Amino acid sequence: MHKNIAVIPGDGIGPEIIRQALLVLSAVAEKFGHSFTFTEVDMGGCAIDKWGEPLPDAMLEKCLASDSVLLGAVGGEKWNSVPGHLRPEKGLLKLRAGMGVYSNNRPAKIWPQLASASPLKASIVAQGIDFIIVRELIGGIYFGKRKTETVAGEMVAVDELTYTESEIERIGRIGFETARKRNKKLCSVEKSNVLDSSRLWKKVMHRLAEEYPDVALSDMLVDNCAMQIVKNPAQFDVIVTENMFGDILSDEASMITGSIGMIPSSSLGHSTCGLYEPIHGSAPDIAGRDIANPIGTVLSAAMMLRYSFNLEKEAEAIEQAVSKVLDRGFRTADIMPQEQDEAEGCQLVGCSLMGEKIIEALRED
Ligand code: IPM
Ligand code: MG
Repeated sequence: MHKNIAVIPGDGIGPEIIRQALLVLSAVAEKFGHSFTFTEVDMGGCAIDKWGEPLPDAMLEKCLASDSVLLGAVGGEKWNSVPGHLRPEKGLLKLRAGMGVYSNNRPAKIWPQLASASPLKASIVAQGIDFIIVRELIGGIYFGKRKTETVAGEMVAVDELTYTESEIERIGRIGFETARKRNKKLCSVEKSNVLDSSRLWKKVMHRLAEEYPDVALSDMLVDNCAMQIVKNPAQFDVIVTENMFGDILSDEASMITGSIGMIPSSSLGHSTCGLYEPIHGSAPDIAGRDIANPIGTVLSAAMMLRYSFNLEKEAEAIEQAVSKVLDRGFRTADIMPQEQDEAEGCQLVGCSLMGEKIIEALRED
């Protein structure tokens, strides 16, 4: 199989973690007889520096012309003072909207080898953490009208939160379909005790539920959900929620699995050309020091093979290689046990050595 992958290293640790993911993809290509072409795309702060905007149209075109897009991370201190519409994050939002990837899938699954890295009590972790957040990605408050103006002598800022029925319905369907392939439990998360958009959300979810009688639908208010994720994460199978709630809950969900550095994500729309990225940010504080965890990006590449290219055994090979490396005790700083007794048998490695170890494991058998 030949595929053209658009690659966006981005800012901060982005280039380092992407480098490792590309090496892993090349090793997969070699092992399974595929060929991947990588086309580099500038987005984020680096694109602002080079082109004066976070995602020039020509760069978006490169992504749209590809078979799929792999992204590191964007943003950083350096661009915090640029006007809102030019921020590095705007590039990412333009890319998501431009690609039409409305469905963002963020798994929260604990690796048994990292159970002790979870900040939750062992008794809670022992009940299992394995759920998926299906986040609506190109609507809601992220894409609403916004303005900042002076009214009666003071500054006023407005961000609008809009959802149409059809936007809710298409993400709702992904939620139900995802649950159908798992344990058939879907929790719809909203704030219907306050927001109109959430009341519409809830109504649409219940209408859809009639078409999916095999899936058990429940509703949960977002504040309660934030609490339940740390109190009893084992209750969740699939969560479906709007853009901003999904942003917040997915950070929380990742943390209880040990480290945000481990979590991949996929974003898909109506075509197979998806956007794959770790859910963490550009971590400028540790950039350039070869200490970042590349696993979230490597696992995002595995998701790309599975969901965009239908290469299931290749995706599994990457996931198994990651699992082996964890079995062997290799840990980047974010997942290195702090207590001496737990650290026994573990070896601290940097970003590139972690990549090498994954490739080594991939080449075995
Ligand atoms: C994420 C990030 C982005 C988001 C930022 C960088 C715009 O936090 O992917 O979760 O809020 O969607
Ligand atoms: Mg986020």
